[in-house]
Amino acid sequence: MPEKEPIGVIGVGWVGLCTAACFAELGHDVVARDILPDKVESLRRGEVPIHEPGLPELVRSNADRLRFTTSMDEVLERARLLFCCVDTPPTYSGDADLSRVETVVDELGDSTEHAIVMKSTVPVGTGRSIRRRHEGLGYVSNPEFLKEGTAVKDFMAPDRVVIGAADDAGAFAERVAALYEPLGAPVVRTDVASAEMIKLASNAFLATKISFINEIANVSEELGADVTEVARGMGLDDRIGSRFLRAGIGYGGSCFPKDVSALKQLAGNSGYHFQLLTAVIEVNELQKRRTVGKLKKHLGSLVGREIALLGIAFKPDTDDVREATSLVLAARLQGEGAGVRVYDPVAAGNASGMLGGARDCASALEALDGAHGAVLVTEWPEFAELDWAGDVLARMANPLVVDGRNFLDREALRDAGFDYEGIGR
Ligand code: UDX
Repeated sequence: MPEKEPIGVIGVGWVGLCTAACFAELGHDVVARDILPDKVESLRRGEVPIHEPGLPELVRSNADRLRFTTSMDEVLERARLLFCCVDTPPTYSGDADLSRVETVVDELGDSTEHAIVMKSTVPVGTGRSIRRRHEGLGYVSNPEFLKEGTAVKDFMAPDRVVIGAADDAGAFAERVAALYEPLGAPVVRTDVASAEMIKLASNAFLATKISFINEIANVSEELGADVTEVARGMGLDDRIGSRFLRAGIGYGGSCFPKDVSALKQLAGNSGYHFQLLTAVIEVNELQKRRTVGKLKKHLGSLVGREIALLGIAFKPDTDDVREATSLVLAARLQGEGAGVRVYDPVAAGNASGMLGGARDCASALEALDGAHGAVLVTEWPEFAELDWAGDVLARMANPLVVDGRNFLDREALRDAGFDYEGIGR
């Protein structure tokens, strides 16, 4: 059997570490480089700094194929395909900050033996402009579609693999395609700009689907329909599909908000006003804030009221709090004069300093104790398992629940005597 191609990974954040660990699991030697010596040291000890199910196990079981380093020379020496996984945060202007990507490209020098395989989410046109400045550089776009919380599974069983390359980088593109062959997924082999656009358009479409169902939810509330029933009926239409039709208190995370804004900005820079995305963003921002009105409907003024936020992470099974609805709610509720307590099984540490004066609690029950209202922000399974009719009811000062993800047993809560407010039902 031919030896498996060694892989280089540049930037060992969430995407980089998932990529490194999964390629190691597929039998490749992986050398992963980060500029932070402390991070590299702790990874060498097998410590995984993020909450991602299955990842620590992969890092440990593939330790002999995973090498962590701060040295770019070591990566260049050991691997030819270099997966660029550095982050590309938005700048104040709304454009993506590509400085880390540029640094990686510069470090590569004029090598014609190496190729950059771009996993970082970059604006459409980035590949072309990099190649304009570094003629002869092997450049392959290979966007990631991993969801936090199921990233390992998503990597190992992708819906598709997208590989974009110019004709003269075709040989590198073939080598990248070969890496994914064991996964048996459809491969979309295309040009660089289209590959870049597939990533942004996919996330923008999913965000649009969520904002759409959230608007249907808001109208359903007025008209007496139940959005979960509506979504069920819509989703069975093959052309629509049932996924990403869950109404809630808005999408968050490191990708959707950033990518939707990036695509809107990119369109604007080229002179096109992407009206639909403007609405998608606005709907999401308003959706995050609607909870305040639902609490006020029952409590009147929130001054001096105690509100418990169940969940801080932007979704379950992650400790990521980027663009999480909890941050907006904590600020808005305190702005209204309420006292806020928060509980999350894993994400509290990452939100310190972002929740104003909210009290961080060690358990859901502690957060609910004496509260005048509870908001389910993140659908962590443990919140469905609370003894709502017993312990919770006895502890709350007022039995009001806003179920921001339509996650709890509405009938059981109402039967127990709670005022229950869902989303769109
Ligand atoms: C997303 C994309 O799915 C992934 O392909 C991409 O590469 C990275 O961004 P992720 O950010 O991990 O992944 O989260 P995802 O599971 O897509 O959820 C995003 C947000 O949408 C969450 O806040 C979630 O609560 C919300 N959501 C999702 C809804 O409100 N309703 C839904 O029906 C689905």
